[in-house]
Amino acid sequence: MAARKPKVFVTRKLPAPVEARMVELFDAALNADDRPRTAGELAEGIAEAEVLVPTITDRIDAALIERAGPTLKLIANFGAGFDHIDVAAANAKGIIVTNTPGVLTDDTADMAMELIMASSRRTVEGVDLIRAGKFTGWTPTMLLGRRLRGKKLGIVGMGRIGQALARRAKAFGLEIHYHNRKSAGTRIEEELGATWWESLDQMLAHMDIVSVNCPHTPATFHLLSARRLALLQPHVIVVNTARGEIVDEAALAGMLTDGRLAAAGLDVYEHEPVINPKLLKLTNVVLLPHMGSATIEGRVEMGEKVLINIQTFMDGHKPPDRVIPSML
Ligand code: 8YV
Repeated sequence: MAARKPKVFVTRKLPAPVEARMVELFDAALNADDRPRTAGELAEGIAEAEVLVPTITDRIDAALIERAGPTLKLIANFGAGFDHIDVAAANAKGIIVTNTPGVLTDDTADMAMELIMASSRRTVEGVDLIRAGKFTGWTPTMLLGRRLRGKKLGIVGMGRIGQALARRAKAFGLEIHYHNRKSAGTRIEEELGATWWESLDQMLAHMDIVSVNCPHTPATFHLLSARRLALLQPHVIVVNTARGEIVDEAALAGMLTDGRLAAAGLDVYEHEPVINPKLLKLTNVVLLPHMGSATIEGRVEMGEKVLINIQTFMDGHKPPDRVIPSML
């Protein structure tokens, strides 16, 4: 007799091989046209489902979780960050939450490095100049950027992605500095030649480039506040591939506009998908549409993690990527 297939409600269109496996293994409701689900549609979906597979574009708050039917036992997030899910409310209802860590580390670190390079070397301005038909020939002073070698990179959050960025940056000759609540330990510091700053304020005041790589939690909301951004020297470049909410976007946009900061490379925004209009007017910013993990390999592996988390849970075991209270 065929095993009973659990009802799985998937909120967005996932890569084809992931959806194919999802349908083979589970009684999966997919989202063929990829239109973001409304709160009402989400509530309807989880009224009967046993598993919800959301993404960052879904707000899984306490009010929605309250509307879940008694069958809902697992929220298997497609993504590493889970700041769009009220994990405490889910756990209080006996619902487990899982995420997809690890498989998007390299892709996100690549994107952080790409933004560091593009904002230091004015890549987008160069591309725009060509597209506008304004390249009339080489000149000794055209689009001069800043050399990476020897510059100080301050990494805010030395987790998996922060460390992967540090490895890349070290190869480019950047000096690695980082702020974390705790030191990453001597092994990592020796491997990366990294300096730990217990005080974020102190680190910010001494850097040439700052990259945000920590998760967004209540404790990291506006970690780079207007006050802290003001500690940066005017030649500094700020890069964010983590979450927009960690940086006070209005303050950042104001400082970039006034020349109190040199440049920024942003993949994420405080009020996504809305972007501060001041940022859109600037030429000294590189703006990307939240594509840090957007590789075919990364997205398929994220999907595989979701499948493994669901299947393991359905087999009666603890899913490997449970979000546990110490991660909140
Ligand atoms: C994902 C991300 O694409 O995984 C994360 O935390 O920020 C992105 O790279 C997105 O969250 C998918 O839900």
